[in-house]
Amino acid sequence: MKLNIAVLPGDGIGPEISAQGVDVMSAVCKKFGHEVCYEYALCGADAIDKVGDPFPEETYEICKKADAVLFSAVGDPKFDNDPTAKVRPEQGLLAMRKKLGLFANIRPVQTFKCLLHKSPLRADLVEGADFLCIRELTGGMYFGEKYQDNDMAYDTNMYTRPEIERILKVGFEYAMKRRKHLTVVDKANVLASSRLWRQIAQEMAPAYPEVRTDYMYVDNAAMRMIQEPGFFDVMVTENTFGDILTDEGSCISGSMGLLPSASTGESTPVFEPIHGSWPQAKGLNIANPLAQILSVAMLFEYFGCKVEGALIREAVDASLDAHVRTPEIQMEGGAKYGTKEVGAWIVDYIERHS
Ligand code: IPM
Ligand code: MG
Repeated sequence: MKLNIAVLPGDGIGPEISAQGVDVMSAVCKKFGHEVCYEYALCGADAIDKVGDPFPEETYEICKKADAVLFSAVGDPKFDNDPTAKVRPEQGLLAMRKKLGLFANIRPVQTFKCLLHKSPLRADLVEGADFLCIRELTGGMYFGEKYQDNDMAYDTNMYTRPEIERILKVGFEYAMKRRKHLTVVDKANVLASSRLWRQIAQEMAPAYPEVRTDYMYVDNAAMRMIQEPGFFDVMVTENTFGDILTDEGSCISGSMGLLPSASTGESTPVFEPIHGSWPQAKGLNIANPLAQILSVAMLFEYFGCKVEGALIREAVDASLDAHVRTPEIQMEGGAKYGTKEVGAWIVDYIERHS
């Protein structure tokens, strides 16, 4: 296979974890005889500083013609506390999602056996938890009509039938490939948009008779994820609820630095960690590269390269078992490995195994 990859390192710890993702990707390509070439592009605060636009046209062109995008993180504190800023790094990420038509964001929540004690939840609750959150990514409040003056502001949570149908279809199809249990998360007791989601889901469900479909209000789902994460198999939800629930889901595994994601839709798919740019850690070589590296595994799997994906996952598991871990998941008194050292260990593992 020949792969053209657009690499968008972005801000904060982005460039450091991006480098590890690229090294792992190259090692896998070399091992399996795939040809890969990378084209780097600007985004986020870095792009604002350099060209005044968080998702420049040139970056869009590079992404559009690539086979996949390897994205890292955007965000910079200098914009966070300035509500009057006209342009923000996050707009770059939103523009990328919208322009590439990435309506389906797949966020797997998994646990690692040797890290169960790192979860804020009791180990017996999290053990075996393994679910997918499918988050609608190009609609809802994020993109609906907005207004803001000094005395009033609003965001509109609008969804159309085709937008709802296409994301629910993704939900049903993933459920068919997994344990055949789909939870549609909404707030249909209050929101009109949610009632339309629920109505459409009920219309579609009979076409998937093997799937057990249930409906859950988002507040209840937030509680259930903590009380009984093992309940879920596939959950599907709108943009804002998905944003909130996936941060909650990410801490179940013990570190936000462990969870990858894939965003797919009409154009080039994007693979990215679900964590942000962690500006305080920038340049310190302490950020966990595993979410980025597992995003590379998702990339290979997307292209049907299961063995390649499996080797990356095996290498990640082996690094954790060997206690080659970044500080936030290291054992007390354990050796300190940095971002680069964890990445290099995984590359070495890939080179030595098949
Ligand atoms: C995420 C992030 C983004 C979002 C931000 C950075 C705009 O939190 O990918 O979950 O809200 O979608
Ligand atoms: Mg988020």
